[in-house]
Amino acid sequence: MCKTKNKHSGFSGSLGFVLAAAGSAVGVGNIWRFPYLCAKDGGGLFLLVYLVLVLTFGFTLLTTDVAIGRRTKQNALNAFGTLHKKWRFLGYLTFLVPTLIMTYYSVIGGWIAKYFAVYLVSDGTQAAQDGFFTSFITSQVSPIVFMLLFLALTAWVVYCGVEKGIEKYSRYIMPVLLLLVIGIAVFSLTLSRTDDSGVTRTGLQGLVKPDFTGMTLRSFLNAVLDAMSQLFFSLSVSMGIMITYGSYVKDDVDLNKANGQIEIFDTGVAFLAGIMIIPSVYVFLGVDGMASRPSLTFISLPRVFASMGGVGRIVGIVFFLALGFAALTSCVSVMETLVANCMEIFHKSRKEMCAMVGVYSLVTAVTICLGYNVFYFELTLPNGSAAQLLDVMDYISNSFLMPFISLLTSILIGWVIGPKWVIDEVEKNGEHFGRAKLYSVMMRYVVPVVMLILFLTSTGFWNL
Ligand code: PHE
Repeated sequence: MCKTKNKHSGFSGSLGFVLAAAGSAVGVGNIWRFPYLCAKDGGGLFLLVYLVLVLTFGFTLLTTDVAIGRRTKQNALNAFGTLHKKWRFLGYLTFLVPTLIMTYYSVIGGWIAKYFAVYLVSDGTQAAQDGFFTSFITSQVSPIVFMLLFLALTAWVVYCGVEKGIEKYSRYIMPVLLLLVIGIAVFSLTLSRTDDSGVTRTGLQGLVKPDFTGMTLRSFLNAVLDAMSQLFFSLSVSMGIMITYGSYVKDDVDLNKANGQIEIFDTGVAFLAGIMIIPSVYVFLGVDGMASRPSLTFISLPRVFASMGGVGRIVGIVFFLALGFAALTSCVSVMETLVANCMEIFHKSRKEMCAMVGVYSLVTAVTICLGYNVFYFELTLPNGSAAQLLDVMDYISNSFLMPFISLLTSILIGWVIGPKWVIDEVEKNGEHFGRAKLYSVMMRYVVPVVMLILFLTSTGFWNL
């Protein structure tokens, strides 16, 4: 049993923070969304655009969140109110994001757990059969059972607290996750070398070689916007999570260095996921195999594993274990943010707030599971895509709230408070913040304009 403390606890040092924050950042987004976008949006060109965005927008938004957390020592809800009385509403808005994400993230975690179990107990070929995924998520009991399992694990880590739970488990899970991903990526590269058909080379080229065919200014801009929304989701910024984690960081930690390490970890795993997935999908399924998001992971990849013969089962086990770890540490960060905020609002213990948030998560996640059968409906979102309950939550949190929150935060920090407030926090112990000038320009001019564009396009209010 782990013992929990009521007082505002924290990470033991820089490494603990970096691994926990990387645990939040590295999630299903890196593994199922990044490779898909990469294949869709011009391969190496997308990589390049993404890298530039990480070094500019990613760095700016991550620095802002973590600095707000550490300087105010509070969660988003109170931190914005402390920054400026009139901007308290931004704290409420930010708090809404994990509240929404929590409803469905454990459902996806349950899907991953189910596939892991399938590969563990059988050769996994059933997972490659037509209709397996659809019949699983539309069934009434199984998705709920696996979601419960995943949610219980998440709640356990959060219940154990910041240092004895989140930090401790991230210290084990993140290095193992990295090893697993590197393992499959290397394996995927050998696949492309042993196969001498032209398709194989296309697979690797699909990742690294810039592809300008059919590229217009419009499709390029769309690729930039895709990369931008991917970046947000991937770094877990503008949703209060990094503010909460920032509030646990000790004052002597070099924030600039730690943030750089988080960016490298997150981007590194996304690139490795590209190497892991794109060549093998192209080799075994051809260009059409690169389906979008859930279908890539739960439909295309099982087919890839089935085509690999005996080794496919092992790759399946390793892959879903890695994905499960990635999802777990991300889900922990969402739940921790809710629990920490609730502890501040209600002045209650971690244990009590874990129970309350646990019940909330349970009820909403069961509802989301039932959204595929009992409460089934199909809606067309303003951006034109068809959606079920899970997609609606995802849309409100990621396409609507996140760009909107970033826009407001950049106005608050860039113009009302001034970027110096953040820069001072980063340079607190005399550290050199090399990109301070870039930070100010980004926060004042670039972020507000681009976030407005992202908000209008990703919500479907404006079609580029
Ligand atoms: N950053 C995580 C990913 O890339 C996702 C995530 C989103 C985690 C929101 C927490 C909160 O998948």
